[in-house]
Formats: sequence, C-alpha cells, structure tokens
Amino acid sequence: MLKISVIGTGYLGATHAACMAELGLDVVGIDTDEKKIAALSVGELPFYEPDLPELLQKHIKGGKLKFTTDFNEIADCDVHFICVGTPQMKDGLAADLSYVKSAFAAVAKVAKPGSLLVGKSTVPVGTAQALAATLPANLELAWNPEFLREGFAVEDTLRPNRLVIGVTSDRAEELLKEVYAQNLKENTPWVRADLPTAELVKVAANSFLATKISFINAMAEVCEAAGGDVTVLAKAIGYDPRIGNRFLQAGIGFGGGCLPKDIRAFMARAEELGASPALEFLREIDSINLRARQRVIDLVRTELSGSNNMDLKSFKIAVLGAAFKPDSDDVRDSPALDIAAQIHDAGADVVVHDPKAIEPAKKRFPNLKFAETIEDCVRGADLILHLTEWKVYRELDPNSLKPLVKQTKILDGRNALDRDKWRQAGWQFHALGRS
Ligand code: UDX
Repeated sequence: MLKISVIGTGYLGATHAACMAELGLDVVGIDTDEKKIAALSVGELPFYEPDLPELLQKHIKGGKLKFTTDFNEIADCDVHFICVGTPQMKDGLAADLSYVKSAFAAVAKVAKPGSLLVGKSTVPVGTAQALAATLPANLELAWNPEFLREGFAVEDTLRPNRLVIGVTSDRAEELLKEVYAQNLKENTPWVRADLPTAELVKVAANSFLATKISFINAMAEVCEAAGGDVTVLAKAIGYDPRIGNRFLQAGIGFGGGCLPKDIRAFMARAEELGASPALEFLREIDSINLRARQRVIDLVRTELSGSNNMDLKSFKIAVLGAAFKPDSDDVRDSPALDIAAQIHDAGADVVVHDPKAIEPAKKRFPNLKFAETIEDCVRGADLILHLTEWKVYRELDPNSLKPLVKQTKILDGRNALDRDKWRQAGWQFHALGRS
C-alpha cells in the first residue's frame, strides 16, 4: 500500500488529503500552521466545503489520514503532493512562488531516496523544471495540476473529468498510476505530458473558462445597448455543442482565488517568455470582468437617483451574497463584496447577507454592515441587489419580502432569479444584459 503526504492543508491540500484516503491510500497531511493542523486533526475545517468535514472525520477515525506539523513524519512516504498556495504578488501581476519553493526544499530534506515529489499548485510555466534542478539526484519531480471547483471539491477530486500528469520518466508515471488506480479503474481519461505542458494545461483551462464568462458578459453589454436579452442569447448559442451551454451565465463576472489571479499570472509569465502578444486578449477578458462590477454600480445609481452621477447617501441597499459564488464561503476577489464595498463608499447604507460567508466578509470589510437573516438584510431597503446565486435566494418568495422593504426594486446581478415571478408580485425587476 502506498503512503503519501500532502504538503499544505489549505483548500486544495485538505481536499486532496481526505479524497486520497477515500481512494484507499495512507495519507499524512502537513502544514506549518499549528492551529490549522490542530483543527484538521479533529476533522474541523477553517472554510466551508460541502461533504469535506464528513470525509475528513471518517478517515481520521479509520486511521488512514493524519495531520502533523512535523516533517519527520512524512519521511517514509512514497509520493509527496505539494499543494501550497501561489497568491498574486502584492506589487504586480505575477504569482508568488515563495511557498512552493520552501515546501519543495522542506520535503527534499526528509524524503527517502526514490520518492516522488508532485507539484499540484498552479505555477508559472517553467517552475517545475527549475525546481527539479534543485532536488538531489535520488528524488524525482512530477507535476499534476488540479481542476477542482469550490463547492464541488470532493466530487471533482474523487471523480475528476481528467487526470493530467507531467513526468520525465515511466517510473514516475507508474507511481502516479498506482496513486490513482481507483480513478483509472473508472476510466478517468489520463493525459501524460511533459512538465511545461502539464503546468500550462491548468492556466490554459482557467483562461478558457474566464474567456467564456467575459464573452457572455461582453454580449450582455451589447444586449443592454441594443435592447436584447443575454439570457435568451446564451441559451440559443449554447445549443451548439461546439459552444455548449455551461459557463455562459452573464452577470457580475468571475472572482475567487483562481480565475482572476491565474489569468494575470499567465500574462506576466508570457511577457517574461517574450510571448505577450499571444495573451494580450486576457487583458481584455480581465477588463470586461471588472467592468461588469462597474455596470452594476451605474445601474444602482440610475435605478435610485435617476442619474449616473448622484450620490447614494439617502438610500438603503440590501446586498444578497458576499461569497464569490454559491456553496462557498470564499470571499477572495468576490465581485459581490467588491460591489457592496464600492456602493458603501459612495455613501449608501449597505447591509450584506450571505448564508455562509459573513464571517470572512466581515474580516475583509469590517466597515460594512451585515445581517444574520435575509429579512433583517432587506428591512427598509430602497433596493435589493442579488449578487451571489445561493439556492435560498433563488427560492425567495417576492410576496413575503414586499412588506419589509421601502421600495420594491430588485437588481439581479447573476441572472438567476425568476423575472416573471418577481414582476407578477409587483416588483421593479432589472438584470444585467436584459433590457
Ligand atoms: C475555477 C475552475 O473552474 C477550476 O477548474 C479551477 O481548478 C479553479 O478555478 P472555482 O474558482 O471554484 O474554480 O470557481 P468556478 O465555478 O469556476 O467559478 C469562477 C467564477 O466565475 C465565480 O465567481 C462564478 O460566479 C463565475 N461564473 C461562473 C460566472 O460568472 N458565470 C458562469 O457562467 C460561471
């Protein structure tokens, strides 16, 4: 039986560790953060992810999974997965590789001869080869990018739609086939690549997804100008299987810990490689994305004051949603929270609700007001802004909210609410890209 370690127990690492135990491996998760390790050791997560706490508890109890801060405890592992973060640098677009470098160095110090160090973090192309050059000759390096989505992390890791491995030897591929034996039995597509291609697959996939979202948001802008309806347009083009109907939800755009930072780091790396023109379009993708937030703010102004320039001082605005997407408490680069903060700065009395992300949102924006219930959030509001499409918001009864608000105005920033239902209940309903 293979024994593996997972270095870095954040979002990616904690999920990978629990899922690898579920796939039958012996797993040791390691992190330098003692508090995090103490919590994980009793199956507690510092973030919200459906099904993950249960999986952690199951395998901690069953003895297949343990967590530690002591690197000596991973010395006998056959494969080490490096899952630490690569955030955007504070002073530019590039990715900060300091955590990846120190994780590889720390593992290299204790790893037994012949073991395989596998990078899962999203890194600029060329990082793997540079790291391989720093390892002793008796250790080998591979790259195995991760495509999990927040909110579906367990499902995506247990049943990935493909496994991509960057290797430099058959032996490394065989070891990874042993790790993923269960997935291979279930016919998960297996793509063997060289190191740079494996690194590029991840950023290329995220760039494509970001492009798809910005494409439909650009169409939303044109629909607004021309009197069209972007939701109908998306449905119609999505029937073409070459286009597909997923990731065509127009709205306030993409956020989170991956898409925005990954496309920026990709542009920065292309520049270093002398390939900037190839990724110039990503700059436009980024601007379309940020413009969607501004369009909501402009719409709020016209909705409430009839003009784009007036201040919002006398208005109360209820914001439904703080997380960057539903089923997550992640507020990193959250379009919803960014809009809430900008409207607050413009003088409005803003109250934010979210089913899971209030605490992390409070930490990021302590000046904003938060409500524990939807009712408290909308009470006395001149306008409701729907910015993260949680199921509870999609299922709201417009009639029951009516007596609570000051003005029956709602703006759907995610094109996820039933417009007819709200209008029939007497609400003024507006949405991005729908004239
Ligand atoms: C993404 C990738 O999907 C995943 O493969 C990669 O490993 C990490 O980055 P994630 O950040 O969890 O995953 O979120 P995702 O579901 O991709 O959504 C990203 C953002 O795009 C969210 O803010 C979401 O609200 C937005 N989005 C998504 C849209 O605005 N419209 C859509 O149609 C789809």
